Amino acid sequence: MSITNESWGSRVGLILAMAGNAVGLGNFLRFPVQAVQNGGGAFIFPYLICFLLMGIPLLFIEWSIGRYGGKYGNHSTPYILDSMSKKPIWKYIGVFGIFTNIAVVAYYTYIESWTFIYVFHTLAGTFTGLSQQEISTFFSDYVNFTGSDFGIPLFPVLVYILVLGINVYILSQGLSGIEKVAKIGMPLLILFGIILALKGWTMGSENASVEFPLANAWDGINFLWTPQYDSLANPKVWLAAAGQIFFTLSVGMGSIQCYASYIRENEDIALNSLAAGFTNEFVEVLLGSAIVIPIAAGFLGLDWVLENAGFGMAFQTMPYLFQQWGIFFGNFAGVCWFGLLFFAGITSSLAMGTPWMGFMKDEFGWSKNKGAISFGIMALIMGLPTVLFYQYGYFDEYDYWGGTVSLVVFALLETILFAWVFGINKGWEELNRGADIRIPNVYKWIIQFVTPVLLSLVFVAALITPEDNDWIAGLSTLSSGNGWALDHSSLIAKLLHSEFYEQLADPSSDASVI
Ligand code: PHE
Ligand code: NA
Repeated sequence: MSITNESWGSRVGLILAMAGNAVGLGNFLRFPVQAVQNGGGAFIFPYLICFLLMGIPLLFIEWSIGRYGGKYGNHSTPYILDSMSKKPIWKYIGVFGIFTNIAVVAYYTYIESWTFIYVFHTLAGTFTGLSQQEISTFFSDYVNFTGSDFGIPLFPVLVYILVLGINVYILSQGLSGIEKVAKIGMPLLILFGIILALKGWTMGSENASVEFPLANAWDGINFLWTPQYDSLANPKVWLAAAGQIFFTLSVGMGSIQCYASYIRENEDIALNSLAAGFTNEFVEVLLGSAIVIPIAAGFLGLDWVLENAGFGMAFQTMPYLFQQWGIFFGNFAGVCWFGLLFFAGITSSLAMGTPWMGFMKDEFGWSKNKGAISFGIMALIMGLPTVLFYQYGYFDEYDYWGGTVSLVVFALLETILFAWVFGINKGWEELNRGADIRIPNVYKWIIQFVTPVLLSLVFVAALITPEDNDWIAGLSTLSSGNGWALDHSSLIAKLLHSEFYEQLADPSSDASVI
């Protein structure tokens, strides 16, 4: 373990890198889908409350932990957590966090590679003149390797390796490489986002035609923004909101701690963490909600969106809709869209690479080159199954275990470490050292009690998710003495008999309830 003096080049660089870490595919692909699937305006209150009571506290915790560990020359979660408590267990928890990053980055860079190649397809006019069906098939051929693009059967794998290679190269350049990408990528991303969002906000119903009789972008906007209070009592919506907040803020993985470990001891973290967090929320709530949903509703109508909301919309539907704006603006919009996604993706995947690199350095003294290359190899080993067996749903499993459950577990443990093992008084002092703002004292209390209790509730609710995710029905069968039927998506059901493997063996079998 050697003390390095490497640190962020400037405050702007730090904020952009941290905002780039948070702003990712989650803002543009995951948020709109979660919002639609959880009732549109019904989602937004639980979401904002989770941001205030779990998101912001976790940002405070992770930035504090990271800067504290960095003071001792530690730049990886195992070593950083170890500097806060002498109990060896925390080091292992840190190692667990590193593997979460690898699991998520594996499928994340795969999606990133789609956005990368779609920029070039748009520029090359691949989608010009194709029907909706053809564009949709183009995507499924790509991910299932049944297409013949460029005549190379495993072309998607090559693109994936190329994009991983770009990540490895940038990581090998150290912090200044990450900072440079963030300084170019973030402003462009926001610019592209604003261009598309303006289009989304101003589309109205002018596209209504024989082909698009139901077109009305405002239906989409109203659906997302008309608050509905009845869902506040539904744990399903709260769980989805909490899950989205964790994922979108990049908390619960250790990547923020590793970035924060390069902040100087007395440099502000209170205001900077809020700046990065609020940038993410601006991009998510204002831009993320103003593109896919309104534009799709602006052509196909809200009902179509409600039925088809999913991840594929970005790749299967958007290129077709853009074409409706004519060749020039259509292709321009396509480049903005996939370019935006690519920049959002890469600034996040770089962040997921740093915990591994930091660990290789802290533990073995590896150079940046060695660290970056070994990261690429690890990601490839973890990622190839998702790429090669996309159609069997490996992808969702990685997202569930890596991108959902692990975040909650890690976030709960680090909150306990910070508030109860390290101690809230010491922690609060750490957070406020060098602070450029006064954080309201109520946050001390929130961090100590509210956040850990809420995180525990989220965890327990995920453990025992009732059949069909229907809590109202679950509670009424329970109170009438008829027990509690677990859903196949509950953590307990998944742990006890992983229907995933059964489905692999017999894809036609429907997941059962234990
Ligand atoms: N926050 C990123 C997104 O919204 C994902 C991410 C999670 C990045 C964890 C880094 C670490 O897409
Ligand atoms: Na995000």
